[in-house]
Amino acid sequence: MNIVHVNTSTPYDVLVGTGLLADLGNLIGRRFPGAKCFVVSDANVMSIYGAQVIRALREAHIETRSLSFAPGEESKTMKTVESILSELKRSEMTRSDIIIALGGGITGDMAGFAASIYLRGIRFVQIPTTLLSAVDASVGGKTGVNMGGHKNQIGTFWQPSMVIIDPATMDTLPGREVACGMAEVVKYGCIRDPKIMELSDELAEVAKTPSFGEQSEMVHQILEQLIEACVSIKAQVVEADERDTGERMLLNFGHTVGHAIEKATGGQVQHGEGVAIGMVVMARSAEAKGMCPAGYTDNLIRILDGLGLPTVCPVSKEEVLQAIRADKKRAGQMISIVVPDNQGLCSIVLVDMDSLADFILV
Ligand code: GLY
Repeated sequence: MNIVHVNTSTPYDVLVGTGLLADLGNLIGRRFPGAKCFVVSDANVMSIYGAQVIRALREAHIETRSLSFAPGEESKTMKTVESILSELKRSEMTRSDIIIALGGGITGDMAGFAASIYLRGIRFVQIPTTLLSAVDASVGGKTGVNMGGHKNQIGTFWQPSMVIIDPATMDTLPGREVACGMAEVVKYGCIRDPKIMELSDELAEVAKTPSFGEQSEMVHQILEQLIEACVSIKAQVVEADERDTGERMLLNFGHTVGHAIEKATGGQVQHGEGVAIGMVVMARSAEAKGMCPAGYTDNLIRILDGLGLPTVCPVSKEEVLQAIRADKKRAGQMISIVVPDNQGLCSIVLVDMDSLADFILV
C-alpha cells in the first residue's frame, strides 16, 4: 500500500493499494474507533460493491447504514442531498460518525457536501471507484451540486478524513471510462510532471483494454503508480492553495473548454473527453503565441489519440468563448487561463477579455 499525506487545514491520508477494499473494516475501525458508518453510492456502484463494503464494515463490528440514488448527472441536485440528510437524521448519525462516499465524482461531491453541512459538518471518507475520481475529485475537498443546469454552483470546501483507493474497483470500468480518467492523468503530466507524459505508451496500452478485469495484475500495478503520482501532484497543489484562489487553478487545464463542450453536446462528450479536447485547444492557442515549444500540440494530440481520446473540438469558437467569459475565474475585464509554458509545465496567464477571441484557436 502507498500512502500520500495531504497536509491541508485538516490533514489526511490517501491510501492506494490493490485489495484495500477487502480490508476496509480494519482500515475504518482503526482510524475511526466507535464510529457508525453511512455509505452513500449510486445504484450502479451499490449493486457492484455495496454488499462487499457493508459486509466488510459489519464484520469489523461497525454499525453501518446505506443509501443509493439514481446514477447520472441529473441526480446531482439539492434534492438528492436533502434525501441523504434526511436519511442521516433518521439513522441517528451523530458528529462522531462518518459518511462513506463510494463511487465516482458525483457521489463524492454530493456525499461530501452532505457531510459538510449535516450537524454543521461531520467526517467523511472517499472511496473512489473510477480512475477519474481517484486522481481528481476524491482528493482536495471540493464538494457540491449543480443548479439550473450549471455545474457545481452550490458547494463547500470540506476535506475528507481519509481516501481509500483500490485499483481493483476499476476492473469493471468500460474502456471509455478508463480513457476519460487517462485524460486527467495526462493533465497532471502537462501541469507538473513530464515523466507522466513519457508513460504515454504504457497508458495507451491500458486504455486499449476493454475491461481491466482481463489483465488484472499488470493493470493494477500500472494504476497504482499512476494514481500515486497524480494524487501526489494534486496534494502539493491543494496544500499550496486549498481554497482555490490561485495555483489550484492549474488543475483546471483544459477544463473550461471541456465543460463548454460537455454542455453544448448535452453530455454526449464526457468530462474526460472534453478535457482532452480543451487541453488541445489551449495548447494550440499558446503555441501559436510562442508561449510553449513548437510541436507541443502535435505531441499532445499523439498521446491523447493513443489513449483513444478525441482531440477535435465539436463546438464553435463562439461557444468556447462564451464558456470562458462565464468562467468563475473571471475577474472584471481579465480572465485567468491555464496554458502550457516553455518550461515544459503549465502556467496561469491573465488575458484581457477583448483579446480573448484573438487568443483562442479552436
Ligand atoms: N478538480 C479541480 C480541483 O480540485 O481543484
